[in-house]
Amino acid sequence: MKPGQAILQAFYEADGKYLAPELLRRKLGPAAGQMAAEIGELQRLGYTIEAHPHFGYRLAGTPDRLITDDIKARLKSQVIGSEVLVFEQTASTSDVVEGMARNGAAEGLCVFAETQSRGRGRHGRNWSSPRGKGLWFSVLLRPTFPAVAVPRLTVAASVAVALSLRRQCQLDARIKWPNDVMIRGKKVAGILTETRGEGDEIKFAVVGIGLNVNCQPADFPPDVAATATSVLIETGEEQDRTELAARLLSEFDDCYRAALADFMSVTSEWAQLCTTLGRQVVVAVGNRRIEGEACALHSDGALLVRKDNGQLEHVTGGQLIAER
Ligand code: BTN
Repeated sequence: MKPGQAILQAFYEADGKYLAPELLRRKLGPAAGQMAAEIGELQRLGYTIEAHPHFGYRLAGTPDRLITDDIKARLKSQVIGSEVLVFEQTASTSDVVEGMARNGAAEGLCVFAETQSRGRGRHGRNWSSPRGKGLWFSVLLRPTFPAVAVPRLTVAASVAVALSLRRQCQLDARIKWPNDVMIRGKKVAGILTETRGEGDEIKFAVVGIGLNVNCQPADFPPDVAATATSVLIETGEEQDRTELAARLLSEFDDCYRAALADFMSVTSEWAQLCTTLGRQVVVAVGNRRIEGEACALHSDGALLVRKDNGQLEHVTGGQLIAER
């Protein structure tokens, strides 16, 4: 563990209380001699660290910027977040992850950007990523299931986003099939799952997540302003993006491992959270339109739609154009 991460982890465990320097040195192990320099570096990054002659050090404030060591210090996960990188700006975080995946990066790599110049959404749309206002990131996965089960990844990611917002921000976040997370009917997050492989084999998947955290209404581009929202707008409070990032990665880790081993458990969470289920829907898949009742999720993650003639359609990757 890097020294900065070890110090921050010790501060979070202390939960705002003072920590004796000996304790911090013990946490740092072989890097104990660098304690003063590391604390200075954290202060330079914007952390408020108070020093008391008798009690030691205390973390009194954190900066509003994404920092690798801080995300890792708060992370509780096994696969996702094995490596965390933060860039000030990228074209698209999904392109960065794809490039690293081709060079053999390990599963679990997460790349965040404070802003993206070419953030993209589904169906070739742009994704606006105002600087420092959201969580714009992509995760590298190397799932062991066949390519036909790729929709499980979007299901797992959407459950993770909705649960994070519910558990951390007490928001009534819901999933709109296939990839949107909504609050009071407005979109707060979108998921873009892209895969590379051959035949039935997935070489790797990149799951890109865009979550509007501290966006104000004026931050949204005009074409989505009426249908988009953010955690700040919904709660009325500025959010700690690092805390939300760590929560989201930890929830995604749980959901992803379940999607590999016991997808039924993710399906039942999804069914509780999804507003599309049980509704009459119209889905466009290529130039086909499928109409019927969204009745269940298949074990491969596809949506099952019962048409008026009773026939079941197995729908992946379409665009939901109406929901009644
Ligand atoms: C959608 O709702 O259409 C999906 C939006 C996905 C946006 C995220 S932001 C991080 C990652 N990088 C991208 O370019 N897109 C995804």
